[in-house]
Amino acid sequence: MLTIAVAKGRIFESTLQLLDKTGLGSREDMLSSRRLILNDEAHGIRYLLSKPVDVPTYVQHGAADVGIVGKDVLYEAQADVHELLDLQFGRCKIAVAAPSGTELSTVTRVATKYPRYAREYFRTLGRQIDIIPMHGSVELAPLIGLADCIVDIVETGRTLKENGLVVLAELAQITTRLVANRRSYQLRGADIDALLLRTRTYLEGETVS
Ligand code: PRP
Repeated sequence: MLTIAVAKGRIFESTLQLLDKTGLGSREDMLSSRRLILNDEAHGIRYLLSKPVDVPTYVQHGAADVGIVGKDVLYEAQADVHELLDLQFGRCKIAVAAPSGTELSTVTRVATKYPRYAREYFRTLGRQIDIIPMHGSVELAPLIGLADCIVDIVETGRTLKENGLVVLAELAQITTRLVANRRSYQLRGADIDALLLRTRTYLEGETVS
């Protein structure tokens, strides 16, 4: 069986739609179950439903042959995996945001779930900052004086707006990626290529229609 690690969370619904429409997995089954391992005997696929941040780990260590995960998570994890395809969905930006009126040149305390993006961006500006690591609801930090700004995902911009924050700089464009374990790609290249072809065909159809 080919094992695919699927990230639950922000991109879960779009991932299920992709799997459903490519005929690789049943969206209903994945949504209705609490099981974390689902076997699709008909297609010879086993799905691992995982926290996004753990998908690169499963794939790098070969617990999954393939993973579906955001570029943001991949970049932060610095996982040694083979990136196969940009799936185009889950589109968002990594941005620096702060309360309106904040000057980028004055910030020193940065709250984030993305320390690598934050550190590298401020390094390119030649600036030293303190990272305040967070796990969620990052927008809270500058509102209560814990940080001067945040580095976080902006998708619709609604969370920033409703919390009185504005974008000071855009750091990266993010989409969802299909990745593979390097050894699996050598040993099971035919299976993975078949999956890749199916996915690519579906994405091209989406673009055309
Ligand atoms: C992400 C991100 C922002 C929000 C941005 O959080 O951290 O808070 O989505 O989306 P928007 O621009 O469409 O408002 P997520 O929902 O993943 O949850 P979290 O705060 O627990 O990390």
